Amino acid sequence: MFTRKNPTLRFTLYFTLTLLLILSYNVVTQCSEAVPDDDDLEGIEELLAVDEEVEKHQPEEQGGGGGTDKLSEAEVLTKAQRIVLELNSDKTEKVINENEYVLVLGYAPWCPRSAELMPRFAEAATSLKKELGSTLLMAKIDAERYPKSASFLGIKGYPTLLLFVNGTSQPYSGGFTADDIVIWARKKTGSSVIRINSEKEAEEFLTKYHTFVIGRFDKFEGHEYDEFVRAAKLDNETQFVEVNKVEHAQVLYPDIPSTVNFLGIVKSEPERYTAYDGAFTTSKILEFLDYNKFPLVTKLTEMNSISVYSSPVKLQVFVFADIDDFKNLQDTIQDVARTFKSKIMFIYVDIKEENLAKPFLTLFGLEESRNTVVAAFDNGMSSKYLLESEPTRSNIQDFCNNFVQGSLSPFFKSQPIPDNTDATIHVVVGKTFDDAVLSNEKDVILEVFTPWCINCDAISKQVEKLAKHYKAATNLIFARIDASANEHPKLQVNDYPTLLLYKADDKTNPIKLSTKSSLKELAASINKHLKVKNQVVKDEL
Ligand SMILES: *[C@@H]1O[C@H](CO)[C@@H](O)[C@H](O)[C@H]1NC(C)=O
Ligand SMILES: *[C@@H]1O[C@H](CO)[C@@H](O)[C@H](O)[C@H]1NC(C)=O
Repeated sequence: MFTRKNPTLRFTLYFTLTLLLILSYNVVTQCSEAVPDDDDLEGIEELLAVDEEVEKHQPEEQGGGGGTDKLSEAEVLTKAQRIVLELNSDKTEKVINENEYVLVLGYAPWCPRSAELMPRFAEAATSLKKELGSTLLMAKIDAERYPKSASFLGIKGYPTLLLFVNGTSQPYSGGFTADDIVIWARKKTGSSVIRINSEKEAEEFLTKYHTFVIGRFDKFEGHEYDEFVRAAKLDNETQFVEVNKVEHAQVLYPDIPSTVNFLGIVKSEPERYTAYDGAFTTSKILEFLDYNKFPLVTKLTEMNSISVYSSPVKLQVFVFADIDDFKNLQDTIQDVARTFKSKIMFIYVDIKEENLAKPFLTLFGLEESRNTVVAAFDNGMSSKYLLESEPTRSNIQDFCNNFVQGSLSPFFKSQPIPDNTDATIHVVVGKTFDDAVLSNEKDVILEVFTPWCINCDAISKQVEKLAKHYKAATNLIFARIDASANEHPKLQVNDYPTLLLYKADDKTNPIKLSTKSSLKELAASINKHLKVKNQVVKDEL
């Protein structure tokens, strides 16, 4: 049996990479890789200067929280859009060079990812405007319309977010909601920690933030405090808050111990409060965050897929289910998740969200499934596992236990066992690979194909001709396997089609036959390897 301890299986690794590509909300290359060079649209450009008037009317921070709340969402958005400075070929360089901090969004109007990000960016600009005054300038540029400026900024695709600090850019590394952008921008350009000075401030803070790190310090100074602030700055996604008085802290973290210095994380979920009990060093604090920032069960979205995937918790159990099915299962999963906290990460994927669910389900040949699927991935080892029994509490519990202990058998896809009676080309599936290829006493030529590969049909035809040609060679079997639906740990193929010759006397080292060869060359190389020359019927080739 293959346990987790087995060496990395290349196909799953390959697949991991594919998944990453599919899942990543890749801001750099979503819509386009290249920005054209010529600037011939320059003539019709208009100056959409920042609307100073609108800025002046921008509501100041108000005590009672009246003003903005009364505006409709659309109005707020329109206002917000105008707070973002629209760059063009005239002013880009000037703006970048003359401001300490500029966060630039490079977009293309037709790109859906750009369209998704723009209102969030504008919303973030509104919040930041209120908080930071003019420290950070938020700007956007139609990178397709102003390609020269885009290339000056280093924008290579849409949408791209870049932070310029005194003219030097750094990539954006935060999340993609408006709040995420605010938190990140504040960390990198302003104060990375919010200080709470009263119960009222704590209450207000709670209305805005559901996930945060709280630090309670005797004094806002000293080594431990400095490490805390450094961690806050280096982290890319979570708001940090600092308090001094226990009454203020209790609003945010009711059971906060009376000891200082204290650090904890608060999340919006049943497992709301987690206290930190390690040393106050930046790296330890960040590690604690990495392990604890996710809820007991994380719902996978396009927004969080990268951070889920890069979690240090490498054992991940995925539950794919319909929303209603998941409701019935939620308590169970949460209980199990609590047992395996920080050992296994639990992820829920709405099975109806095909973009998210299918890439995973395909790995198990379950892409059409409507029923709940519980699967596990060991990203450290790059292997996958499937709960093949009913997803009951005890089955899931056992599955997770075995998963943690490394005693689950990895899953390999297989089609049903086919009937090969009278077949000229034997159909091999995952389950029959051992018997049909590896422990078969004959020489086997195996064609590894996928339904979508470009040259597979041509090679299939050649293999059929070869099979006829070698009909008399009773010790030679021709076989094929659909690699999209079948896997075997000993079948490590990344290119399709691939022709493998498994010699009877050495099944562990298959010989790769060139798929670029002519029929004659193929036959010649088969003859050379197998010494079956005498049986060849020459005229057929
Ligand atoms: C940007 O440049 C100004 C002027 O040289 C300097 O005072 C400021 O510290 C610089 N900002 C950063 C973040 O380096
Ligand atoms: C924040 O993002 C940057 C850039 O991706 C990365 O190098 C850094 O490690 C991240 N910080 C943390 C604490 O994960």
